[in-house]
Amino acid sequence: MPVSTSSPAPTSSNINDLDSLWMPFTANRQFKKAPRFLVAAEGMHYTAADGREILDGAAGLWCVNAGHGRAPITRAIQEQAARMDYAPPFQMGHPAAFELAARLARLMPEGLDHVFFTNSGSESVDTALKIALAYHKARGEGGRTRLIGRERGYHGVGFGGISVGGMVANRKAFGAQLPAVDHLRHTHQPDLNAFSRGLPEHGADLADDLERLVALHGAETIAACIVEPVAGSTGVLLPPKGYLERLRAICDRQGILLIFDEVITGFGRLGAPFAMDAFGVVPDLVTVAKGLTNGAVPMGAVVVRDTVHDAFMHGPEHLIELFHGYTYSGHPLACAAGLATLDVYAEDKLFERAGALSPGWQDAAHALRGLPHVIDVRAMGLVAGIELAPMDDGPGKRAFAAFLECFARGVLVRTTGDTIALSPPLIIEDSHMDRLFTTLSDVLKTLP
Ligand SMILES: Cc1ncc(COP(=O)(O)O)c(C=O)c1O
Repeated sequence: MPVSTSSPAPTSSNINDLDSLWMPFTANRQFKKAPRFLVAAEGMHYTAADGREILDGAAGLWCVNAGHGRAPITRAIQEQAARMDYAPPFQMGHPAAFELAARLARLMPEGLDHVFFTNSGSESVDTALKIALAYHKARGEGGRTRLIGRERGYHGVGFGGISVGGMVANRKAFGAQLPAVDHLRHTHQPDLNAFSRGLPEHGADLADDLERLVALHGAETIAACIVEPVAGSTGVLLPPKGYLERLRAICDRQGILLIFDEVITGFGRLGAPFAMDAFGVVPDLVTVAKGLTNGAVPMGAVVVRDTVHDAFMHGPEHLIELFHGYTYSGHPLACAAGLATLDVYAEDKLFERAGALSPGWQDAAHALRGLPHVIDVRAMGLVAGIELAPMDDGPGKRAFAAFLECFARGVLVRTTGDTIALSPPLIIEDSHMDRLFTTLSDVLKTLP
């Protein structure tokens, strides 16, 4: 699709200052020598600045689950902007925030029925951790100040999120972080589980790490345990069979709140509305973002169990119950986008669609086994991780070379370390799947 001439698209030739922007999670100097610009998006495709159509194999960044440029979402944002641009969320309300909270709660398993809005996954995580700490204090167990995360976990980039997170590069430059944090071991055991179809057989016992940490620190010091049900950013690690159930049981036994970070697993990615539904394990708090607004306006949320919420609703009614919130919590444009997005998901039955497409998707992903460098394939719903053997002279280099070559051939994928992570919009058709996997397989054959 050619780039519209009525609003000139930025290209590397008419952007003459690449220097000012410090790009996030990007090799800035390398990018600026050979920039990659996206200037438009529609359905399953981006348009690059040079006019090329780029198949989106990553739903942007795990967020555009309903596909790009959905007219009802665009319209809802435009209408809301014209009606009321902004409303203060502290001591004031606007209808769309209440409506979206109620709609979101209705999508959740029973008991998860109170919604706190944020603007990102990182803010959702920090909010959930703070609610967990304040909950225990509110019920007279203020000694529960310890937070448990997991190695290789990704929970965004706030200080709370990197403290409980376990991706080393995201942590090691940033000082001491939160003091009372410990980590479960990660569940990646390629020697036992490589190329598992469905959930890995081995590793449920790794959940017993939580009991070990209870023995070490005392349950009375532990507020919450946070995990991604499927660890995404570390390379798509599926939970071993029985692992999440075991974590749930230990949390119940020890009075520890269980937090699922569903920032990427939410809104149909796993072929069910949420990972909670896919795995049949319900936490006490859930963090979401990304697919909540189809990526169209920044927004996140924490959905909280009634018993946790109700623990705050005591004392004089004129007092603020939780000293926490953001200027843009429940922003009108985000709420409008969220409501329209939930309509699109329901009308197009996209969560069910992801489930129906999943067997073919998993077959296509696992068919990459045997290609050069592929040392593991992990797939579920409409997500897949293809792990490559690292190059001798630098971890991550081989997957990044695959990313560049895929982009040169018109396909956007995401890489993390040496894993290629695929997470297309849930509107993907067979022809797109063919193109995605054929391109990837051709590229794998060309890599050094
Ligand atoms: C599981 C998880 N939590 C939190 C985040 C952070 O979200 P954000 O980048 O919106 O802050 C991400 C982002 O990818 C994520 O995958």
